[in-house]
Amino acid sequence: MNNLKHLAIIMDGNGRWAKQRNLKRTEGHKEGVNVVRDITKWCAKNNISYLSLYAFSTENWSRPKIEVDFLMKLLEKYLTKEASTYMENNIKFKVIGDMLGFSNKLRDLILSLEEKTANNTALTQILALNYGSKDELARAVSKINIQNNITKNEILKLIESNLDTAEIPDVDLLIRTGGEKRLSNFLLLQSAYAELYFSDTLFPDFKSNELEQIICDFKKRDRRFGNI
Ligand code: FPP
Repeated sequence: MNNLKHLAIIMDGNGRWAKQRNLKRTEGHKEGVNVVRDITKWCAKNNISYLSLYAFSTENWSRPKIEVDFLMKLLEKYLTKEASTYMENNIKFKVIGDMLGFSNKLRDLILSLEEKTANNTALTQILALNYGSKDELARAVSKINIQNNITKNEILKLIESNLDTAEIPDVDLLIRTGGEKRLSNFLLLQSAYAELYFSDTLFPDFKSNELEQIICDFKKRDRRFGNI
């Protein structure tokens, strides 16, 4: 039986969920927040140590301004309103991504929730905001001064310890909802040996019973990590 320490989810399909109901795309994002809350609480109660959620990518800035503005406001509201959910469920909050892209207000809200929840231990929820693996790698390399007399292994250790996910174990299981089969620049290095699962369910319809089924399947998979 495989142990599931780090679960990552690409939350896709909010826009299509709303369109199917003749609603504005933004209504899909609002419904997505409820799923984020439910799934996070479920993971905290089910012995998962890390849950990474792809909430806003470095590429998402190219969406219409009205949608980007909505997502920023939704995030502000989420960080303000959900503090109690993190405290009541013993969940630590952490953001990965380039915070320089955000307003001072959003940055302050993020830092304050990270500080407030720093000693919580049931689960670490990692929200990827203005995150892209390529951008993360470029930021990591720009932080280090690699000398040419060190080994490849040492270079890798240096890079890994300067990624946003330093100290966080690699992804064990990566789920993408919404039917598309791609990784979209999410945790590419950290998912080097992740098991992948693609669900057709649109994110607002993704419930913990489906997650439980996927985890059950994951536990039975044969993980060889390049060995035989
Ligand atoms: C992808 O669906 C979803 C996003 C780019 C945003 C994810 C945001 C949420 C789940 C809600 C906000 C979360 C928090 C924590 C505040 P899409 O818009 O690409 O859907 P589509 O492929 O159907 O168009």
